[in-house]
Amino acid sequence: AGALPAAIAANSRGKGLICPLECGSEAAWAGMGEDNPGGVLAPRSIIALVNHFRGTQVLSEPEPLKAVEAGAVPDLRDIKGQETAKRALEVAAAGGHNMLMVGPPGSGKSMLASRLPGILPPLSPREMLETSMVASLAGELHRTGVSRRRPYRAPHHSASMPALIGGGLRVKPGEVSLAHRGVLFLDELPEFPRQVLDSLRQPLETGEAVVARANAHVTFPARFQLVAAMNPCRCGHAGDAARACPRVPRCVSDYQAKLSGPMLDRIDIHIEVPPVAHADLALPPPAEGSAEVAARIAAARELQQARFSELVGPGSMLLNSHVEGELLDRIAAPDDSGRRLLAEAAERMGLTARGYHRVLRVARTLADLEGGGGVRRIHVAEALAYRETVAGRLGAAA
Ligand SMILES: Nc1ncnc2c1ncn2[C@@H]1O[C@H](COP(=O)(O)OP(=O)(O)OP(=O)(O)O)[C@@H](O)[C@H]1O
Ligand SMILES: [Mg+2]
Repeated sequence: AGALPAAIAANSRGKGLICPLECGSEAAWAGMGEDNPGGVLAPRSIIALVNHFRGTQVLSEPEPLKAVEAGAVPDLRDIKGQETAKRALEVAAAGGHNMLMVGPPGSGKSMLASRLPGILPPLSPREMLETSMVASLAGELHRTGVSRRRPYRAPHHSASMPALIGGGLRVKPGEVSLAHRGVLFLDELPEFPRQVLDSLRQPLETGEAVVARANAHVTFPARFQLVAAMNPCRCGHAGDAARACPRVPRCVSDYQAKLSGPMLDRIDIHIEVPPVAHADLALPPPAEGSAEVAARIAAARELQQARFSELVGPGSMLLNSHVEGELLDRIAAPDDSGRRLLAEAAERMGLTARGYHRVLRVARTLADLEGGGGVRRIHVAEALAYRETVAGRLGAAA
């Protein structure tokens, strides 16, 4: 594992790399398009290597990995109705916002999440190098090949801590790092062990996963977009008066208490996904599919790239969702009417400072989806709507 970063390091020092046959093409990819001073030797055995240096049987350079064509992924067009959820998915994808979907079984949450790979823009060459290095360290690259498709990882809630965060005997990156520059989808979020959910906080905040060892720490990149889904309560039907069990709203708060406040605070977009109306299911497929949505998302991401290249530095890979503090104030200050609405809402909803910033980040992305002008009242209003949770609503009703 790790032949790609090893080859890059060797190249930068003007050296070659000798690695096992299986990693040869991965290591050779590192030297593509540049002068590759040392070259890569990937012999089948030590004998072959000895023969190479004796000059009796010269090894040829391995072929670099070929970029694999991204295969087909499911299309948004398959989803009937659910316009609000689809819109939220588009906004989340455009700004890289973390998103939590809450809804009863069968409402289409998993279906929505699985459409993300088809609407996210392809990786830039630099991003692809980063994601390939992580995959190489995990020992996955020679199997999967390099691809411009953004990573999409959906680990099961029974996955172990080292599998998710990184670790193991020979420290390997976990799912959070394999999802770097892409999406980490956690289905049935409250079913993940508390310890795992808590350990997600750090990568969510810093974009890095730190694995503690006896005598050292290993840091892997982990700048992922978290998309999570859950039922409102254990039986799944709270919020539907006809089917809810008698323990509502207690069961809702019990179930959702498994998610800590600091974690929920890192999620910019919270939406409710109601059951699909029978009338919607009978509709013909919607006119708009993944291709149309992907084009709007790509345009919004280009605006962000231009903005942050100017404000932060060329080549910045920031997205609206990563921005905080003074920079956020600079890029997302709403107009007067928007500011008034936000002040009122902050008062009425008891917004925390973090909540306030979440609204601004999402409002910035909404304005970017409209062409990148200033943040206006209408954007603030929509961003405020992405804060509703079933717990909040039922809590307010109780
Ligand atoms: N809006 C929709 N349009 C078309 N089919 C849908 C829609 N919503 C759900 N379905 C159908 O219902 C099935 C279940 O959806 P999905 O698995 O996404 O639900 P879920 O919300 O993840 O449920 P759970 O909470 O049980 O995980 C889908 O495979 C699909 O066939
Ligand atoms: Mg599901």
